[in-house]
Amino acid sequence: MDPVSDLEAKALIEIASAAPDLQALQDLEVRWLGKKGELTLQLRETGKLPEAERPAFGQKVNAAKGRVLESLQAKRALAELNELQQRLEKDRLDPTLPGRRSLGTGSLHPLTRITLECCQVLQRLGFNIETGPELEDEFHNFDALNVPSDHPARDGMDSYYVGGKVLRTHTSNVQIRVMQKRKPPLRMAAPGRVFRRDAIDATHGAQFHQIEGLAVDSFGRVRFSDLKGTLESFCRQIFGRKLSIRLRPSHFPFTEPSIEVDVQCFKCTGSGCALCKQSGWIELGGGGMVHPNVYQACGLEPGDWAGFAFGLGLDRLAMLKWGIPDLRLLAENDPRFLAQF
Ligand code: DAH
Repeated sequence: MDPVSDLEAKALIEIASAAPDLQALQDLEVRWLGKKGELTLQLRETGKLPEAERPAFGQKVNAAKGRVLESLQAKRALAELNELQQRLEKDRLDPTLPGRRSLGTGSLHPLTRITLECCQVLQRLGFNIETGPELEDEFHNFDALNVPSDHPARDGMDSYYVGGKVLRTHTSNVQIRVMQKRKPPLRMAAPGRVFRRDAIDATHGAQFHQIEGLAVDSFGRVRFSDLKGTLESFCRQIFGRKLSIRLRPSHFPFTEPSIEVDVQCFKCTGSGCALCKQSGWIELGGGGMVHPNVYQACGLEPGDWAGFAFGLGLDRLAMLKWGIPDLRLLAENDPRFLAQF
């Protein structure tokens, strides 16, 4: 055999016995047909031959290269098929597997919902939404609100103190911050988190939420009846129908007179049920006419202004509205509970 046929036969045998692997076939192609491949190098021999034999020799080498390439390509097709099969085997779809569940659409936390609803109602009544710090100084949380220095709420047993400040015990601090910043007339509402050292049970937590309201104008322009009308309108919009409210005399240092406000039980409409503990009424919070000392503490002339304020418990409202039996559910973030809203 001549060297060309010899090389071709060797190449074909190597290709035939190679593994059906794309990289191995690539290496073989370089080895036989590449720029410095063994068959390619044969073409250089052409120059050494007598003139007359050169074309025939060149054709012979090229024909041999062609056959080797064909054989490589056939083997390559096999290798590709092989690879595809392996991939399919590996990534096989198992239609019996349970589907992947998407995260699903979330919903607003009941506290967020009640907060938004209360803000919307009060905004419609002309109140601006304000916020204030949760870590507050004693002046804004107590002194400016006319809370005497020996008041039990100021005791370390009842409130949380952090580095000379107090975690606000109510949202009433925002009244002070807003009146220091802006002269009345003003109407503002401030929702937020408040903190007390309560024994934790189904209806008490170390933190809960309130919404504060404040409406102040020149003396004579805001009256006690406006407070009553505002609370009535608020309840009608939150509970979706007209319910009576009841104002009971009470005491808060920052209002005079002070009241506590109850709404007719929206479940039994006053006849008595488990929700209202057979009383027919549900307690919402406190309020009253702003005490002159509060204006004074904010740098306002007490005789010039009159207004009302109120503070309502948001957790309570949410629990009542949606029949939530335990306050702690609001803090646990259990999706089985939250998905119901
Ligand atoms: N700050 C009171 C509390 O936390 C609630 C309250 C009562 C707010 C009377 C007021 C108010 O603005 O006028 O119990």
